[in-house]
Amino acid sequence: MCGIIGYTGKQKASPILLASLKRLEYRGYDSCGMASLNGNNIIVVRKGTGRIERVNAKVDFLSLTGKVGIAHTRWATHGNVTMENAHPFTSCDGEYALVHNGILENYVELKRQLVEKGHHFTSTTDTEVLVHLIEENMKQAKDIIKAIKETSEQAKGAFTFLLLSKKSGDIYCFRKDSPLIIGVGENEFFASSDMTSFLEYTNKAIILENYELAILNDECTIYDLAAGKEIKKEISTIDWTAEQATKDGYPHFMLKEIFEEAEVSKQALDQDPAKLAELVTLLTQAKNVYFLGSGTSYRACLIASIYFAKLCHRNFMPILGSEFKTYQNLFDNETVLFAISQSGETADVLEGIKIAKSKGAKVVSLVNVMGSTIMRESEQFLTLNAGPEIAVASTKAFTSQVLILVMLAYALNNQLAEGKEHLNEVIFQFEIIMKQSDFIKELSKEVLNKQNLFLIGRGVAFPVAMEGELKIKEIAYIHADALAGGELKHHTLALIEPGVSCIALVPNDETKDDMINNIMQIKARGGIIIGISSEKLDIFDHYIPLAKVALEPIVIIPILQLIAYHLSILRGNDPDFPRNLAKSVTVL
Ligand code: F6R
Repeated sequence: MCGIIGYTGKQKASPILLASLKRLEYRGYDSCGMASLNGNNIIVVRKGTGRIERVNAKVDFLSLTGKVGIAHTRWATHGNVTMENAHPFTSCDGEYALVHNGILENYVELKRQLVEKGHHFTSTTDTEVLVHLIEENMKQAKDIIKAIKETSEQAKGAFTFLLLSKKSGDIYCFRKDSPLIIGVGENEFFASSDMTSFLEYTNKAIILENYELAILNDECTIYDLAAGKEIKKEISTIDWTAEQATKDGYPHFMLKEIFEEAEVSKQALDQDPAKLAELVTLLTQAKNVYFLGSGTSYRACLIASIYFAKLCHRNFMPILGSEFKTYQNLFDNETVLFAISQSGETADVLEGIKIAKSKGAKVVSLVNVMGSTIMRESEQFLTLNAGPEIAVASTKAFTSQVLILVMLAYALNNQLAEGKEHLNEVIFQFEIIMKQSDFIKELSKEVLNKQNLFLIGRGVAFPVAMEGELKIKEIAYIHADALAGGELKHHTLALIEPGVSCIALVPNDETKDDMINNIMQIKARGGIIIGISSEKLDIFDHYIPLAKVALEPIVIIPILQLIAYHLSILRGNDPDFPRNLAKSVTVL
């Protein structure tokens, strides 16, 4: 959460920083700001609250003329959404400007000490402490590397930052627990939370590890502060392209990413056979396997767990990232933790990984972002191959997660070829569903002004309904509730009265007859049913057709994503930037 970007090179920094910042906006959009060295070697700062376009219209970032600068887009944690709390922050003497991604846990104590020493604070953020602490440490150390090292020893929590120095014109890029990637261009360097932000300029990158410091000027020099020495790091080539990170004519990233699902799913199934076999062996031999994921990725864990139970007769329990600690006693050296994450940076999941490792468990993962922390913390990993996912609401990454995990379940049961056949049928259906987007939009109008929406399903269709519920709440801001059909009679039937709408997921599997009973219970109380099924049943008030395929519940996923997307648009929301949320949740 929060996006940071720095640039140094031969070009004017502000247009590059602005373009890059917009690509980081999915990480937070409460406020933003930029700092650059001007011709008189003075650090000039511009900032404001709200989305980047709005702030730019007010403060004109492009009026910053320097060739070196840093910028930030904020997802507020400590301190309200105000102009004063927007980054960058400067030191008392104006020598340094700093942007930060993370949460400084001991900032209250550090701030008290700094105030006693005469530092003047202008914000209520945790971040501002960092720039004053570096300034303070410089008084003794007289050497910026030493001062940053000292700061890194005093600070607690996640504090990845970029520090711009007026005197040297250098950018000091330090990583601790939030991602930081250095882009290596022709006579220019970038430092960013996410490689997609500088892909337009270079696809060469260096991924920093915790406690590494990169100093950017005409060169890039890297130090391992924990080891206290300069180090050389490999420059990787990123195989994502800048075009993949554009809307490509679509009104929103989310719609583009839904429409990419068929193509991306093919890439998802195209896994290296050796890596797949290695993972299958590990999972087969493990005494226990637990899935771990948050939000949408957790829903992929739930779906996967059902398929592993159905196909392989194995109990691979799904655990919510934020609930890991409750289950930590289940982990030992015969246990595998299987982490599922699009970003590969989710703090809740990373915390679980650390604990599981400390107990001797093996960690494997399924991630989208190459080089991400979760990937690097894993003994084995598979990648989603979904390309950059920009919209805050995860769509194509989710379908890829589901497809790969189901493929793994088939592989574990020695049915890989059969599994791929079924999954290819699903992918073919994805293409057909995209052609029904307008029809789904029309149908969505039926529930446009509802206060509450219910989604019911059984078996695999239950976690699919849960994902639909999540998406509808997240971007349409309608309260939705997903239920296993059989649960209705235990409580929620009390809320069904004439006019209440319910989306019923009725795949042609062993759940169908029971689902029909559940729908009848809703109809008997005047509820309105939008049925998603391969058969048009009389009990449906509205109907979305499905093709009869072996893995029907998975085919329902993009239908629900499209319902959520169209509801969001029809209600005047921006589906790419849901309020109060951000992609890549790097806070606990
Ligand atoms: C919802 C959504 C989030 C993420 C969650 C985990 O549409 O995208 O719920 O799924 O924050 O993120 P990753 O998969 O990056 O670990």
